[in-house]
Amino acid sequence: MQTKGRSKKAVLSELRKIQEQDLKYENGRILCSMCTTPHPAAKIAHQLFLSSNLGDPGLFRGSLRLEKEVIGKLAALLNGKNSVGFIVSGGTEANLLALLAARNMTNVSNPEVIIPESAHFSFNKICNLLRIKPVQASLDSSYRVDPSSVKRCLNKNTIAVIGTAGTAELGAIDPIDKLSEIALEHGIYLHVDAAFGGLIIPFLEDINNDVAEFDFRLEGVKSITVDPHKMGMTTIPAGGILFRDSACLEHIKTQTPYLTDEFQYTFVGTRSGASVAATWAVFESLGYEGFRNTARHCIDLTKLLSSGLESLVFKLVTQPTLNIVAFRCSNSKLLAETLRQRGWFVSYVPRLDCVRIVVMPHLKNRHITAFLKDLSEIAATHAVTASS
Ligand SMILES: Cc1ncc(COP(=O)(O)O)c(C=O)c1O
Repeated sequence: MQTKGRSKKAVLSELRKIQEQDLKYENGRILCSMCTTPHPAAKIAHQLFLSSNLGDPGLFRGSLRLEKEVIGKLAALLNGKNSVGFIVSGGTEANLLALLAARNMTNVSNPEVIIPESAHFSFNKICNLLRIKPVQASLDSSYRVDPSSVKRCLNKNTIAVIGTAGTAELGAIDPIDKLSEIALEHGIYLHVDAAFGGLIIPFLEDINNDVAEFDFRLEGVKSITVDPHKMGMTTIPAGGILFRDSACLEHIKTQTPYLTDEFQYTFVGTRSGASVAATWAVFESLGYEGFRNTARHCIDLTKLLSSGLESLVFKLVTQPTLNIVAFRCSNSKLLAETLRQRGWFVSYVPRLDCVRIVVMPHLKNRHITAFLKDLSEIAATHAVTASS
């Protein structure tokens, strides 16, 4: 740190210069992110509540009220009549709290959790941290977890099973109804990771997309991760964890000796009230109809992209369920690198040897059209052929 401080003007001017190195969602070049540009109301609300800390909620009663209202709206969307929950740092922390509750509810000395092959990598971190053995369940031909594989993984040490509603790689929705039956029959905890899908799937029912139930309507579902900082278009950090009822909270609480509240239930201590206010502002500004329009926009662009890809030489890994498109060619890794060199930021997924695009709300028709045009040129000049 330098001895003397610099003027506000100098500091801001340098920050703006450095910020130029960051990509901007608005340019339509970020095709691999599950976050997006925050809604304008979110940006203002975040600024308003910048100093709010929900780690000490007695000092920030207004922010606490906003959190309760946001959780109430998420619970209503996911049919959790008695649900309780928190806005946390992200999907990773939300998944962590769910597995912490699941583990602490039992007294199995060598706990195991059944995790689909397609589950988010956060579960590997969590199992490592909580010393739970992950047992991998295999997928069916649609990249959804195979319930018969889940059954084969069960044993006396199994404490929980994970299902994903909107996998990070393909947007696939596991058969949560079948997982719920298994969980109820064997008395184990079912956690649904809908970090991405939770704020798009509920709006698809109105857009003629045939999506299965994945939420608290299914009796076996004990908790759901649903992240406002992904399809909720709010500011980071805003992950969401909902529990079926308050009984789960007993298993994750920590006494907070010198704070205004007696207990904390989240893993992080100091917690942003700003992103909670921002989430509240998005929910109020958009309402159900606004979210449904956003979902429709993303699904329409997904269709434009996938049909465009199929009319070139590319093969879809699977027909998209949500707004994620994965495709292959003879050298998908090289294609992803070439696209990046041309300024299109796509992902390469080694496990599936494919290129992946997440069609987030910041993308517009013109971005997809320009991308497809560039891609067809690459296909012509780089001798890209369909994968076998
Ligand atoms: C399905 C799913 N679960 C969990 C996570 C982890 O969320 P975060 O990065 O907010 O911790 C992600 C992130 O993309 C995800 O897609």
